[in-house]
Amino acid sequence: MTQSVAAASPAAVTRPLALRGTHTDGSPGRGVEVWPPVVLAPMAGVTNAPFRSLCRSFGPGLIYVNEMIMAAALVYGNTRTRSMVTFAPDEQFRSLQLYGSDPRTMESAVDILGRENLVDHIDLNFGCPAAKVTRKGGGAAVPLKKNLLREIVASTVRAASRYGIPVTCKFRMGVTDDLLTYLDTGAICRDEGAVAIALHARTAEQHYAPSARWEAIAALKQHVQGIPVLGNGDIWTASDAVRMVHETGCDGVVIGRGCLGKPWLFRDLIDAFSGRALQPAPLLGDVLDVMLRHAESLMHHHQANGRNDEGKGIREFRKHCGWYLTGYPVGPEVRRRFAEVSTLDEVRQLAATLDRTLRLVDGGERLARGHTNGPIKVMLPHGYLDHLDDLTVPDDALVTTLSGG
Ligand SMILES: Cc1cc2nc3c(=O)[nH]c(=O)nc-3n(C[C@H](O)[C@H](O)[C@H](O)COP(=O)(O)O)c2cc1C
Repeated sequence: MTQSVAAASPAAVTRPLALRGTHTDGSPGRGVEVWPPVVLAPMAGVTNAPFRSLCRSFGPGLIYVNEMIMAAALVYGNTRTRSMVTFAPDEQFRSLQLYGSDPRTMESAVDILGRENLVDHIDLNFGCPAAKVTRKGGGAAVPLKKNLLREIVASTVRAASRYGIPVTCKFRMGVTDDLLTYLDTGAICRDEGAVAIALHARTAEQHYAPSARWEAIAALKQHVQGIPVLGNGDIWTASDAVRMVHETGCDGVVIGRGCLGKPWLFRDLIDAFSGRALQPAPLLGDVLDVMLRHAESLMHHHQANGRNDEGKGIREFRKHCGWYLTGYPVGPEVRRRFAEVSTLDEVRQLAATLDRTLRLVDGGERLARGHTNGPIKVMLPHGYLDHLDDLTVPDDALVTTLSGG
C-alpha cells in the first residue's frame, strides 16, 4: 500500500531552515542548516535522548528538540533537571527548550548551559497553558506583558550570544480569542534577537482542541519578516506538513503529537518534501521491533543517568505502548497488558504473542495521540490585565515540572 501524498512543489519549500547564533562581537556562532525544514517539538516526558535517537534513525539531519527544562531548577542545581540535559554522543545539534519568566534567572541558566558547553540551541517556551504557571503570570500569560516578554528574550539572547548559541521562541496565539498576542509576540522575539519563531496555532484556552488554526500561521508569516516562521499544530501525516507549508507560506514545520508512536513520520516527512511517494504504514511486526528498541534504550538511558533504575525506563515506556498500537486492531486486553508492563522481558513476551502481519486500519495514522482535551479555563492572577506594562516577575520559579506549550 502506497499512500498518495501531494508532491511538494519545489517552489513551496526551496529553502533550508537555518538557525545560527551570533557572538557578542558580531561573529557567526553555532548553527545548523536543515532541509527539509522539519523540527521535532519539545514534549515534556517524551523528547528525551532515546526518543530523539529513534526519530533521528528514521530522519537524520533534522532538528530534534529536547524536553523542556526549568531555568530556575537548573540554576538551583536540581540534579533531576540537570540529568535531563542529556544528548547522545552523535547528536550534532544539541537543541533544548528552556522555561522561565525571570530575565535574570534565564540569563544565569543560559550561562550554565553555555559555559559547560551543554547545548547548541535554546528554544524558549511562552505557550505553556498549565494553570500552575498562568495563575502566577507565567507561561502563556507572559506575552500579555510585552515589556516583560521583551526583557526575557533580550536577557536570554544576550547571555546566549556570549557562547554564540542561537535562540528561538515558541508560543501560542494568545490566552483567549479576546487576548490574542501572537503577532506582537513574534515581532518582539525577532526584535530582541530570536533567530526563528514557532507558532502553536491555538490559544491557551483551546489547549489541544478544537483544531489548530493554520490561518494564524499565515498571518504571522505575513507580519514577521526577516526570520523563519515555523508552523505547529495538527500535523498528523507527512502530507499535512506539506499542506501546511503550501497553505500558510511558513518556513518550516514543528511536529508534536503526530510522531508519538510513529517515529518513522520523520522519514515520511523527508520523502514528502522531496516529492517521493511514501512508504506504506508498517505492519505490526515492524512496529513491535521499534517498540523494543525504544524500550531498551529508555531502560539504558535511565540506568546510565546514575539512578540505576531499570523500572523507571519501562514505566516511562508504558505510555508509548498505547501510542505505538494506535490504529492496530490488537484488542483492549493487549493494550491493557502493555500499559502495565514492568520489565523488558514482559514487553518481549507480550510482543511475541502478537500477529506480526496485522495492518494499520484505514485512517489509523490520523488517529489522535497524546493530549486531546480542550478548551480549558485559563487562570490569570487577579488584576493581571490591569497592569500589563509592569515588569513584575511571575512567581513561578519553584514550579519544577511542567508539560505543554
Ligand atoms: C506530551 C506533550 C508534552 C508537551 N510538552 C511541551 C513542552 O514542554 N514545551 C512546549 O513548548 N510544548 C509542549 N507540548 C506542545 C507541543 O510542543 C506542540 O506545540 C503541540 O502538541 C501542538 O502540536 P501537535 O498538534 O503537532 O501536537 C507538549 C505536547 C505534548 C503532547
